[in-house]
Amino acid sequence: MHIVHIAVEMAPIAKVGGLGDVVTSLSRAVQDLNHNVDIIFPKYNSLNLSNVRDFHYQRSYSWGGTEIKVWFGKVEGLSVYFLDPQNGLFWTGCIYGGRNDAERFGFFCHSALEFLLQSGFHPDIIQCHDWTSAPVAWLFKDHYIHYGLSKARVVFTIHNLEFGADFIRKAMTYADKATTVSHTYSKEVSGNPVIAPHLYKFHGILNGIDPDIWDPYNDNFIPLPYTKDNVVEGKSAARQTLQQRLGLKTADLPLVGIITRLTHQKGIQLIKHAIWHTLHRNGQVVLLGSAPDPRIQNDFVNLANQLHSTHGDRARLCLTYDEPLSHLIYAGADFILVPSIFEPCGLTQLIAMRYGSIPVVRKTGGLYDTVFDVDHDKERAEAQGLEPNGFSFDGADAAGVDYALNRAISAWYNGRDWFNSLCKRVMDQDWSWNRPALDYMELYHAARK
Ligand code: ADP
Ligand code: GLC
Repeated sequence: MHIVHIAVEMAPIAKVGGLGDVVTSLSRAVQDLNHNVDIIFPKYNSLNLSNVRDFHYQRSYSWGGTEIKVWFGKVEGLSVYFLDPQNGLFWTGCIYGGRNDAERFGFFCHSALEFLLQSGFHPDIIQCHDWTSAPVAWLFKDHYIHYGLSKARVVFTIHNLEFGADFIRKAMTYADKATTVSHTYSKEVSGNPVIAPHLYKFHGILNGIDPDIWDPYNDNFIPLPYTKDNVVEGKSAARQTLQQRLGLKTADLPLVGIITRLTHQKGIQLIKHAIWHTLHRNGQVVLLGSAPDPRIQNDFVNLANQLHSTHGDRARLCLTYDEPLSHLIYAGADFILVPSIFEPCGLTQLIAMRYGSIPVVRKTGGLYDTVFDVDHDKERAEAQGLEPNGFSFDGADAAGVDYALNRAISAWYNGRDWFNSLCKRVMDQDWSWNRPALDYMELYHAARK
């Protein structure tokens, strides 16, 4: 089957959050199943080109009165066509944030379909993602289905219903199939008026992570390669490097890591509370996060300064986006905390497990589907063929966070053997695309019937 993704984020060349990870890793997984996968992507002037192989100019075409140059390159083994409209819509130095984002991405979607048509591509599936490539769904049905692309079917994946609801509403109507990124989130949003009329074609398929991209045995950003067989040594080396790099006390204390966009979705009040509670329980805490909203960023800068003077040896807030540091935290932390108010899937809890860190999460969306509490979810885990793998809480208040963190930190202090065996156990669980990629293929086949 020939699958074309039309997307605006892609790790590691232009990533803001999990969408970027998924575009790359889902594509790689489907390509590994011997399908033909191409990606059409904007040529931002902020692209990280050092991660593009064989990058070269191919040709140009024109659409909407604008010349569009096409560049080609390989990213993580995937063929990517970069569209470079000469009207400068993607020369803004950023992926999002322009006041004309709807116009920029609308133009991109239209020129991507035009590119497919003019290049004589005949894809079986056109896969679009979130509001930014939602216009593909209706532009295709309004303008392109009658031409050379007629055999294609459009699959639309919602990564986050919060953004661009009008675009999502329209794409839901026009797409042949729609998905979201976990089963529980698909149920949580099923009553939403944007989704409810289309439940017959709407499916929850859990995200995976790419085990080659996130691999503690083969990771340039951590000091000692490790597998579950030397997880204790590997994590302790990573913890020391992390502590030294951030100027924390190099002591053997339970270390809670938080890696996140700082937005309402991610449970900002709960994150703040968890930082203080971890310190109160004699733990260390490292937060890596950045806030698109300057008021929230400011608020955390103030908290960082306060913590620096009161608990400088045990707490560090790194208020930036830093891919290498994120790897070191996944490896060096004992726990990764994800107290999201809602979470369509969430990847940080999955990456955490790959690095032998224990997830502590709020029970919502994909967090509910992937984290099984050691004290409460044995049966639910067994029904999935798994053993419990973390700590979780209900509710959205401080008491919930305390309940999960207290049990996690006590387990660390009181039973190191048990805790180490839990680290090995989570490393053994398979959160790759092995299964979800097959689910996507099944959906693609169903879309073509
Ligand atoms: P979302 O897409 O809602 O932000 P996910 O959990 O799906 O949340 O994905 C987040 C991705 O972004 C993960 O790969 C995580 O490691 C990465 N990430 C988040 N914040 C940062 C940061 N400040 N620095 C580096 N990586 C980050
Ligand atoms: C969105 C969601 C997140 C999900 C990611 C990838 O950003 O907020 O939960 O993991 O997309 O699908």
